[in-house]
Amino acid sequence: MTYVVIENCIKCKYMDCVEVCPVDCFYEGENMLVIHPDECIDCGVCEPECPAEAIKPDTEPDLETWLGLNAEYAQLWPNVTIKREAAPDSKEFDGRPGKFDAFFSKEPGQGD
Ligand code: SF4
Ligand code: F3S
Repeated sequence: MTYVVIENCIKCKYMDCVEVCPVDCFYEGENMLVIHPDECIDCGVCEPECPAEAIKPDTEPDLETWLGLNAEYAQLWPNVTIKREAAPDSKEFDGRPGKFDAFFSKEPGQGD
């Protein structure tokens, strides 16, 4: 089992999650984060910290696509453990449907 970052993180990227993870298993893309599924210890503390409700346990249904995306990009993007300020327009994207097709970026973020 692991926790998974899902679509609503895209362009919200609040980063509250990285501060609480005891094993530092978040990785940073240009406009979202992912969790490394082999490093996550399933503690669950990050889930309620995300203002966008964008972290779910993989025991919830229909998360296969997101689990695959987290696993793939955790190997490509830099590790991140230090919260930075969210983009000024992040709230405008909170809850917006279709963010993956419209905005997902494969580019890495800056990391720590
Ligand atoms: Fe880190 Fe725990 Fe969240 Fe996994 S569930 S990403 S170990 S805070
Ligand atoms: Fe994304 Fe939520 Fe973390 S929006 S960066 S999963 S706090």
